[in-house]
Amino acid sequence: MKNQLYYGDNLEILRNFVADESVDLCYIDPPFNSKRNYNQIYNNIGSEDKAQTQAFVDTWLWGEAANMAFQEIVKNKDQVYTPEVCALVLGLRQVLKESGLMAYLLAMTQRIAEIHRVLKPTGSFYLHCDPTASHYLKLLCDALFCTRGGDFKNEIVWEKTRVPKAQSLHFAKQQDVILFYSKSDSYLFKLQYKQPNPEYIKKYFSQTESETGRKYQLVSFLQDGQGQAKRFGDRVIEPPRGKHWIWTQERIDEAMEKGWLIFTNPDKPRLKKYLDEQIGKNIGSIWNDIPPINSQAKERLGYPTQKPEALLERIIEASSNENDVVLDCFCGCGTTIAVAEKMNRKWIGIDITYQSISLILKRLEDSFGSNFTEDIRDQEKQIKIPAKVILQGEPEDFEAAVALANRQDDRLRKEFEKWAVLKFSKNRAFINDKKGGDGGIDGMAYMLDYDENHKEISRKVLFSVKSNKNLNPTVVRDLVGTLEREKAAVGYLISLYPVENLVKEATKYGFFENSFGQSFPKITIVSIQELLDGLRMNLPLPLDILKSAELKKRDITESLF
Ligand SMILES: C[S@@+](CC[C@H](N)C(=O)[O-])C[C@H]1O[C@@H](n2cnc3c(N)ncnc32)[C@H](O)[C@@H]1O
Repeated sequence: MKNQLYYGDNLEILRNFVADESVDLCYIDPPFNSKRNYNQIYNNIGSEDKAQTQAFVDTWLWGEAANMAFQEIVKNKDQVYTPEVCALVLGLRQVLKESGLMAYLLAMTQRIAEIHRVLKPTGSFYLHCDPTASHYLKLLCDALFCTRGGDFKNEIVWEKTRVPKAQSLHFAKQQDVILFYSKSDSYLFKLQYKQPNPEYIKKYFSQTESETGRKYQLVSFLQDGQGQAKRFGDRVIEPPRGKHWIWTQERIDEAMEKGWLIFTNPDKPRLKKYLDEQIGKNIGSIWNDIPPINSQAKERLGYPTQKPEALLERIIEASSNENDVVLDCFCGCGTTIAVAEKMNRKWIGIDITYQSISLILKRLEDSFGSNFTEDIRDQEKQIKIPAKVILQGEPEDFEAAVALANRQDDRLRKEFEKWAVLKFSKNRAFINDKKGGDGGIDGMAYMLDYDENHKEISRKVLFSVKSNKNLNPTVVRDLVGTLEREKAAVGYLISLYPVENLVKEATKYGFFENSFGQSFPKITIVSIQELLDGLRMNLPLPLDILKSAELKKRDITESLF
C-alpha cells in the first residue's frame, strides 16, 4: 500500500476510499467544539506584522447538515449504527435540543462509526479531545465500540499546560483528554516506559565506558545477611561482617570476564549498572512528561493546535508495529503522518482544508527529502505517478475546479482561492483571507534580492485569484495598482476561465529585474487549466513563509517504498 493523503471531508473519504478492517491504529484530534476559529501563523518576514490566516473553524450551529445526520443515524438504514447508538442519539437530542453541541456530536458519531468500520479487529482508536465534550464523546464511543466486542481502555490525561500565574475565576484548565478504545480483546498493546530525566542521568550515570561509550554508575555488590567468601579472578575475598556478595560464583566469573565489576578498593568490588539497560517506570494514564509545542519549540510550524511529536510517538509505539497502517482523518499539519513515516508505519491522512494538505506536503518534503511528494513521469506509459504519496481529492480537471470554486460552505471560506495559490506556488506562499479592503490579494510570497548597498531585502510577490467569467482588462490594471501600493515586485493573476484579453493587457507592464539581472514579467496571467496541466511558479523564493520542519531520519534508513 502507498501512503495516502486525501483532501476532503473525512466522512465522504472514509466511506468511499477506506476499506473495511484495513487500519491498525487510528488517532484523531478533531475540533473540540471550542466555539472559536484557529489561525495559522506565518514566519515574520521583514517589517511585516505577523501574518495569519484562518486554518479551521470550530464553531458549530444546528442546521441542515445536523438534521440530515440525525435522520441518518436514527433511521439506521444500512445498519451502520448499533441500537444503543440510535437510542443514545435520540436521548441526547431531547436533552441538548437543536444546539451547536448536538450538531457537533452528530458529526462525530458519523465519523467514529466509520473509524470503527475501517479498524482491523486487532486495531485501536485514540480520540483526542478536552473536557468541553469528552464526557459526551465517551458515551458515543462506548455505544459504538463496547456494544460490538470492543473495550474502553483508558482515559489518558495529557497535561498540556502548566498553571499560569494570571488570576482567573476558575482553576486553570490544564488537561486534554485522550480516550483509548480497542476494537476487540485481541488488540495490540506494548507497555511504554518513562525515559529517565536528563538531570538524573547527569548526576547518577556520570561514567562512560571508553571502549563502548556506554554510560554507567557503580552500585554496591553486597546485600545484608552473612555469606561466604567468593573468587574474583585470582583472589578470594571475604564479604564484610553481616553482608554477602549478591551473585553466585558462576555469575561472578562471567562478570569478571566481561568487565562488569570494578574495584574501587582492592577488597570491594562494585557492579556497573548500565543506563541503556534501565527501563524506566511504566507509563500510566496521566501524561505530564510531554510538553506542548511552545513558541520556541523546534518542531513548531505555526499551525494552531499542532500536537507534539512525542505524544504521537508514544501512541504509535504502544499500539502499532512497523509497516502497520496508521490513520489520522483530522490531520491538521500532519503530526501523526510525519511521526508514522519516521517510525516506518504506513499511513492514511485526511483533511478538509487545502491549507493543511499543503502544509503536510511541505512538512514531508522538509523532513524526508524534496522528492518525497513530487510527481514522477513514467517514461514508458507517459503518465505522472506520485513519488511516495498518493494525493487524492484535489481538483484534477476543469469541472472539479469549477465545483470547488462554487462550493457553498461557510466553514471553507475561499477554499478555491487557497487551493489555487498554494498549488501554483508549490506550497510556498501564504494565504490572505482578510475580507475586502486588500485590493483582491489572495496570497503573498517573498523573493530574496539585494539593494544598491548589497543588503539582503525581501521583495513581495502577490497573487490574485478570480473565479468569475468574462473578466475585463481592468482587473489587470487593478492588480498593477495594488502592486504599486504594496510595493510588490511582481504579481500573478490566476483565473478560473481562459483570459486571452488579460494576457495582452499584462504584457503592457513589462518586466521586473532583480539585482542578479534576472527578469520576470511584472504581471503574469495563469489559467486554471494551465495550473491543472502542471504549470508552477518558478521564482527564486528562498524566503520561506511557512516554518520548515526539521529534516528527519527514519528509524531504519531503508525506504519503505
Ligand atoms: C485540531 S486540528 C488537528 C491538528 C493535528 N493533530 C496536528 O498536530 O497538526 C483539526 C483538523 O481537522 C480538520 N477537519 C475538521 N473537520 C474535518 C472534516 N470533516 N474532514 C477532514 N478534516 C477535518 C481541520 O481542517 C483541522 O486541520
